[in-house]
Amino acid sequence: MPHHKKVLVVHYSQSGQLDDAIRYCILPLLNDKSVSVTDLRLKPSKPFPFPWNVLDFLSVFPESVYCDKISLEPFDINKNEEFDLIILAYQVWFLSPSLPMSSFLQSAEAKTWLNDKPVITFIACRNMWLTAQEKMKRLIAQNGGVLCDNIALIDGGNSLETFITTPRWLLTGKKDKFWFFSSAGVKKSDMENSARFGRAISGALKNDIEKSKRPLLKGLGAVNVNEKLIMSEKIGHRSFLIWGKLLKKIGKPKSRIRRVFICIYLLFLVLMIITVVPLTLLLRALFYPLIIKKLKKQKAYYEEPSGSENFKENNE
Ligand SMILES: Cc1cc2nc3c(=O)[nH]c(=O)nc-3n(C[C@H](O)[C@H](O)[C@H](O)COP(=O)(O)O)c2cc1C
Repeated sequence: MPHHKKVLVVHYSQSGQLDDAIRYCILPLLNDKSVSVTDLRLKPSKPFPFPWNVLDFLSVFPESVYCDKISLEPFDINKNEEFDLIILAYQVWFLSPSLPMSSFLQSAEAKTWLNDKPVITFIACRNMWLTAQEKMKRLIAQNGGVLCDNIALIDGGNSLETFITTPRWLLTGKKDKFWFFSSAGVKKSDMENSARFGRAISGALKNDIEKSKRPLLKGLGAVNVNEKLIMSEKIGHRSFLIWGKLLKKIGKPKSRIRRVFICIYLLFLVLMIITVVPLTLLLRALFYPLIIKKLKKQKAYYEEPSGSENFKENNE
């Protein structure tokens, strides 16, 4: 008789996208009688607005980048409860885990729940999650957790489209198709297909495989790193660290002086995007043959632990 397994699913979502995506993923676990799923929806004490106005949106940038702890509503789960597996479903804010998730990982509860346990991260974001996941790795390790898999769903449109459609969605709430742009957010079919991860997790739990703390989701195409974005993330994050530090020194998130500098920052950001981005694209095209080997190596690194291989997809 396999043991009854307990899974903790921690999540937060503003538009409901991430809640939907993680629900599809864990449906096989919810239907599995040998598994009990504990749902922990994170609630910031001061809710974040959705849709955002531009200034509020930019005002969470320094704290997000530095993973500052915000206050969350108390969790409704016994602190001493023990779980066999923890799933952390998060979205990316400014190349960092969203503030509710990074704050959860700085709580006393996370320390007891994650300690010495296998952890799976599940991301739904526009398309830039590599740096955020590096921060998650550190936070998970600080809690004694062992990251055994990572699943990343990204928005359906190409980079150019989502450069317009994602901000439009976040700033107006409108997600529909318009002009020649496809709708914003992760494709419904990608969300539905993430049930394959739940099935694999359910199978693994039956066989105690999670105890090995090794990947449970290899061969399922859990992630696919676009190596073209690696350099942009690195450059972008470096500038975020510098500006973030400056803005934090200047004033509190909602202070007038910080808002003034946020506007200057916005100007800088737009200038960067229209100058530096095309320049890096050009440089990359020129030097591609020289850096391809390094990029391939980095792609493989960022795709750990689950990998991008897809040999099990149709083999249920
Ligand atoms: C403040 C903020 C910053 C964001 N920064 C990024 C980012 O750096 N990279 C990215 O891929 N997506 C980014 N997104 C998009 C989110 O990851 C996510 O796709 C979107 O907010 C929907 O998530 P939801 O489930 O909370 O509605 C950002 C969203 C917000 C609100």
